[in-house]
Amino acid sequence: MAQIIGGVASTHVPAIGKAIAEKKFQDPYWKPFFRGFDYVHYWLARTKPDVAVVFYNDHGLNFFLDKIPTFAVGAANEYRSEDEGWGIPVARPIAGDAALSWHLINALVADEFDVTMCQEMLIDHAVTIPMSLMWPGPSQPVKIVPIEINTVQHPLPSLARCFKLGRSIGRALESYGQDLRVVVVGTGGLSHQLDGKRAGFINKEFDTMCLDKIVAEPETLARISIHDLVEQSGSQGVEFLNWMAMRGALTGRVSELHRNYHIPISNTAAATAVYDNQRGAQRRAA
Ligand code: DHB
Ligand code: FE
Repeated sequence: MAQIIGGVASTHVPAIGKAIAEKKFQDPYWKPFFRGFDYVHYWLARTKPDVAVVFYNDHGLNFFLDKIPTFAVGAANEYRSEDEGWGIPVARPIAGDAALSWHLINALVADEFDVTMCQEMLIDHAVTIPMSLMWPGPSQPVKIVPIEINTVQHPLPSLARCFKLGRSIGRALESYGQDLRVVVVGTGGLSHQLDGKRAGFINKEFDTMCLDKIVAEPETLARISIHDLVEQSGSQGVEFLNWMAMRGALTGRVSELHRNYHIPISNTAAATAVYDNQRGAQRRAA
């Protein structure tokens, strides 16, 4: 049986890729942000996951506005990236676990999530940046299952729907026959808006409320409408949908092991969090 060891959440601001390439870890601007990953590295070294299920949003590299699925699941044994124009080195391909992907896809469709299945899928900075933050160096010791959530083209799925998607993934992981240790990852956020009159918008109060409630009261967050989420967290802050899916996939007793919140990285309130998932604890059925 696969075991969900916990969750990690991380921003995916592309400028981080440049800072990594230029080794700016001690730079006064970057240090408080990178330091937030010391605990993540310690935790990953201790828990040793085999697989990362990554909830993220594509920003136009694989899907564009003409065709954008609400939910898409990668089903490949390798995921390539490409130059997105941010001026950062293109990440090396990341290994996938296609067998696990198909198990999750089957379970999702059985659960009435009619997902798009991608046997080829380019992964953008929303996957590659968190992966290189979690496992610094040229390659990662895990395989991934990337799960894309539309945060770009309205109508977006609701927070409640993304939470339920995560729950379905959590149940499916627990019914997987192989003995795998799985970390679930949510990327993006927290509050930010890159365009329009409110460009540069950040809302620390709202972000703090989200970080406080996501552990023990995710259902409260699930009741927030997309309209209110855009208003409170900015038009790109809706990437919090990825965090909600990650949280949904944590099936046991969940606790926060680590939190770092730093304003700003580029235009974004950068949050890093690690959640423990204690197996065996009862949870309500979805
Ligand atoms: C920034 C943030 C994002 O989430 C993104 O996808 C691209 C850029 C930024 O703050 O620069
Ligand atoms: Fe983004």
